[in-house]
Amino acid sequence: MTPVYICCGAGGVGKTTSSAGLALAQARAGARVVVLTIDPARRLADALGVRVGNEPSPVLLPPELEAKGSLHALMLDPKETFDRVVSRFAPTPEARDRIYKNHIYQHASANLAGSQEYMAMERLYELAREDHWDCVVLDTPPTHHALDFLAAPDRMANLMDEGVMRWIVLPASRGGWRMLERGSEVLASVLERMVGNSTIADIAEFFTAFQALWDGFRERSIEVRTLLSAPSTKFLLVTTPAPAARAEARLFVEQLRTHRQPLAGFLVNRCLVAPPNPGAPSFGPDPGLAGWAESVAELTALPERQRARVEVQEANIAELVRGTTAPVWRIPDLGSAVHDLGGIIRISGYVGAVVPEWGTGLGGTS
Ligand SMILES: Nc1ncnc2c1ncn2[C@@H]1O[C@H](COP(=O)(O)OP(=O)(O)OP(=O)(O)O)[C@@H](O)[C@H]1O
Ligand SMILES: [Mg+2]
Repeated sequence: MTPVYICCGAGGVGKTTSSAGLALAQARAGARVVVLTIDPARRLADALGVRVGNEPSPVLLPPELEAKGSLHALMLDPKETFDRVVSRFAPTPEARDRIYKNHIYQHASANLAGSQEYMAMERLYELAREDHWDCVVLDTPPTHHALDFLAAPDRMANLMDEGVMRWIVLPASRGGWRMLERGSEVLASVLERMVGNSTIADIAEFFTAFQALWDGFRERSIEVRTLLSAPSTKFLLVTTPAPAARAEARLFVEQLRTHRQPLAGFLVNRCLVAPPNPGAPSFGPDPGLAGWAESVAELTALPERQRARVEVQEANIAELVRGTTAPVWRIPDLGSAVHDLGGIIRISGYVGAVVPEWGTGLGGTS
């Protein structure tokens, strides 16, 4: 299976930035890489040359980078992905069109809770099956909790399995609709969460039309789960050294353990000072920080208050990784938003060692 790197983490920690950096690092080292970004900032999207749409486009890398491989990037289009899923699983073109036209579908395909996560994985699965990539890097949606992403395929499968859905499509004569009309509070709130305010008739039509797709959905969610648990799929936890980020990061580590999914490493973003990372980078280090000597010099030159902050940072990182053997890569705070290729190139200098040789990936690291 194609190696897959998934950058997970809480909202705003730098998942999109580090995914792009990691993908570029691998392209520099010789891999044909595709990075699937989720809602990149407009300027970053422009810098990478990704437009709204679901197809990978080549990122033009400056020749002086001497990249040995290539980088493609795309931006997730959840609606278009959902349409494709429907088209794939619908038994007939008429059934497909009936779903496309249903306005609950139109709303749900953009707003269904968890659908962005699910569609990200659907698109990831499609990319991982194409044979012209040496590796796929996945950015993940800005969920409040990093865990939401991990739970998405199961949630989608459960949704398809949920007794309540089967029950909803039962004909009214069997009591289902009458009960619904009487207003089961629980059901109404479940539906409202899923599809917003809609009439019962709209919802009925939607679920009836969708019924034919359930088996396809369920099968696909099993395939996605298989891809996620393959040894060639690596989870990287993006976080920051802030103490506030630690509890959630630790929870994520625990959850990965529960899912028996090895954690491939921590990407600690926005560090005050980032010494060179473990493992020799396969290309020159970031020009801004040439090596340990420079880092140490930089550290000792820091005013005492700032040095104390670095100590706090390191104590936090030590606490973060306690009890795990996963490697840590520190990415410095670049001082301003990373919205151009130059910034991504700098970030790539810190994460090159995440994949020492793209062919072998992180091997048995756990
Ligand atoms: N190392 C860094 N130095 C300076 N700015 C950074 C760094 N990493 C990220 N940023 C900036 O922080 C902001 C958030 O980064 P990014 O969009 O990558 O986070 P995210 O985790 O993908 O967010 P979301 O959860 O909203 O998708 C962006 O403006 C980005 O340019
Ligand atoms: Mg993002």
